[in-house]
Amino acid sequence: MFAVSQIIARNLHRKEACNQALWINPEKDDCWREVESICPSLKLLSQDYGVTDYLKRSSAEIEFSAFPEAGDTKNQWIILNLPRQKALLEMMLECAASLLAEDGLLWLAGENKAGIKSADRRLKKYFGRVRKLDSARHCTLFEASEPLAGQTFDPASYREEWLLDCQPTPIRVASYPGVFAHGRVDAGTALLLDVLTDMPIEGEVLDFACGAGLIGTCIAAGHEHARVTLLDTSALALKAVEDTLASNRLEGFVLASDGLSELSGSFDLIVSNPPIHAGVKTDSRLSMRLLDSVHDHLNPGGRLLMVANVHLPYENWLSQRFKHFSELATNNNYKVLLANK
Ligand SMILES: C[S@@+](CC[C@H](N)C(=O)[O-])C[C@H]1O[C@@H](n2cnc3c(N)ncnc32)[C@H](O)[C@@H]1O
Repeated sequence: MFAVSQIIARNLHRKEACNQALWINPEKDDCWREVESICPSLKLLSQDYGVTDYLKRSSAEIEFSAFPEAGDTKNQWIILNLPRQKALLEMMLECAASLLAEDGLLWLAGENKAGIKSADRRLKKYFGRVRKLDSARHCTLFEASEPLAGQTFDPASYREEWLLDCQPTPIRVASYPGVFAHGRVDAGTALLLDVLTDMPIEGEVLDFACGAGLIGTCIAAGHEHARVTLLDTSALALKAVEDTLASNRLEGFVLASDGLSELSGSFDLIVSNPPIHAGVKTDSRLSMRLLDSVHDHLNPGGRLLMVANVHLPYENWLSQRFKHFSELATNNNYKVLLANK
């Protein structure tokens, strides 16, 4: 069991049976079974497709969604696993407060290195009472109650919309806290977009690990013969993608997938600024693992175009899978690599 789940599990003796409970973003382990034994109507929600898929396989009923739905009755107990980004924590606390019954309890659990120790200040913005329940295994568990009256939660109030001057057609980008490079373009993505400016693009295109959908939407906006699929594991990213496409009156196929697990069909171009963070560590093996079967999803003559940190060793990995690859652009921090099937 993950340490965060362990600190929740060792405090369950404090809880009485309850009718309605919600756990937002449980870990990939079995702790939900222990919580469910106290509250049989426990609802699970994850913003991560990989976690959702894992827990479904272990027979949990879990919803994959950017935000929990407000039901007819409020929850007596909500557990929230601490997200790493502060802006996302703010948003999820406001969301949780709006879903909690007046006499309900919120548990917020997280690792000390993810910043849980200072979370009580944020909790006090949304709850009248906040106390530390436990601290162990480099984790802390807070309990909050008395959600401040009159709180309504509107995800749209957290959405940022901005103009991305990509070529040949600028687009509007929508994003939410927790989405990669929220409200701006990442420097690696910008280098990739520069390279795309001069490329002829048509046919089936996959934006792998699309975030708010900048790359795929730029392609859809500027290349009328391109059909774009945008894939990510984050429900918040996919919500942003849907808003981004709608803002530009463009269509695309939006797919939730952990790596390429849910992908069928093959593509003429797969383009990506792939994830390289496993927790806090930078590790190119994550994207190599996620993209392991990328070759199988390319049509004959198809291309893989990716941007990577200059010091990450993708070249060996590419040479084992592709006959040809080349570096199309580089600067002090990033390189853009093109591989042909
Ligand atoms: C470096 S960001 C790139 C986002 C976007 N393409 C851009 O350039 O702004 C990597 C993205 O990978 C997604 N991601 C992380 N793990 C993933 C996985 N297992 N499967 C699919 N996507 C994943 C993250 O949610 C994030 O949106």
